[in-house]
Amino acid sequence: MANSSPRGEPVVEVRVLVESDLAAATRVMQRAFGTFLGAPDPDRFMTDRNYVRSRWRADPSAALTAVVDGKVVGSNLVTAWGSVGFFGPLTVAPEWWNRGVASRLLEPTLALFTDWNTAHTGLYTFPHSPKHVGLYQKFGFSPRFLTAVMTRPVDGHDDARAPDLAASVGSDEGSGVLQQCRTLTHAIHDGLDLEREIRAVATQQLGETVLVWDGDRLGAFAVCHLGADTEAGAGGCYVKFWGGTAGARRERSFRPVAWRLYRFGQEPGSVPRGRRRQFGARGGLPGDAPGRFPHRDPRCLYAPAERASVPPAGSLRHRRLAVMR
Ligand SMILES: CC(C)(COP(=O)(O)OP(=O)(O)OC[C@H]1O[C@@H](n2cnc3c(N)ncnc32)[C@H](O)[C@@H]1OP(=O)(O)O)[C@@H](O)C(=O)NCCC(=O)NCCS
Repeated sequence: MANSSPRGEPVVEVRVLVESDLAAATRVMQRAFGTFLGAPDPDRFMTDRNYVRSRWRADPSAALTAVVDGKVVGSNLVTAWGSVGFFGPLTVAPEWWNRGVASRLLEPTLALFTDWNTAHTGLYTFPHSPKHVGLYQKFGFSPRFLTAVMTRPVDGHDDARAPDLAASVGSDEGSGVLQQCRTLTHAIHDGLDLEREIRAVATQQLGETVLVWDGDRLGAFAVCHLGADTEAGAGGCYVKFWGGTAGARRERSFRPVAWRLYRFGQEPGSVPRGRRRQFGARGGLPGDAPGRFPHRDPRCLYAPAERASVPPAGSLRHRRLAVMR
């Protein structure tokens, strides 16, 4: 029998999500999105994606869950990329919708941003849903940009100037690369810092961070998830973040990044050990374990930050609304 308030309402407890909650929180996430998006079997929706576990592992102290009588009914994963914060997936079990659970999760979410002194916060949501927009507006977010999430198949390309991979950088140099990434992202937005994401991808073997050099300076980089059990899903490559130096170079630098990603897509199965040496492997970033790449095949998904960065022949997969505070 559920704990209940004096008015007979079940008591919703919001607390930090712990490892033993992960399986239940993942099931709630799949069922919530599956139900909202009208999947025929919501319990089997997005089972090839890993959002909850990988984001929890990136920072367990920034993962929140809502629990009723010991049962997970919702969760939210909070992220800071330096001065820029976002959260999600925020999900609630469908039988608990419209009972204030997401709102309860958002209160400590915003408190985390305050604790971290996060200067700029936002997230992507569904533009067609008044409920989603209304929920975030209630917490001070405003609709800003409609963002196209693009997809394109992998095809042949000239790989003569293949970019480097973060995993190929020796541990001594790894911190130098992180510093260069930081310099690059600070130029895009004051305090923007992808270190947490680059480390998560390396330590959890979620994909790769692709580096494009402009002489001895970093011209661009992309943090990518590859294949099943990542944010890309089976057969996909998801460009979670891409950033380049200013102006026209930004457009040019996207191409080698994209080609490198597409090449991943053309190589199903594990990458042979020697393959890392081909890119000059000398130990990886601190904490990076050598090993497999997840399965991949021809599909690449990306949300271009700028019109100039859209590679040719990409097609619209869906639209997301960026809401910001
Ligand atoms: C979106 C989701 C997390 C909301 O969870 P929830 O627990 O039902 O949300 P709450 O009950 O806390 O808040 C609902 C709020 O939505 C807003 N809302 C609901 N219907 C609305 C409408 N028709 N127009 C405008 N605002 C509306 C209100 O602000 C309402 O809060 P209020 O009742 O205090 O006024 C949940 O529906 C879900 O898991 N959906 C599937 C996954 C998903 O889409 N996640 C979000 C991805 S960005």
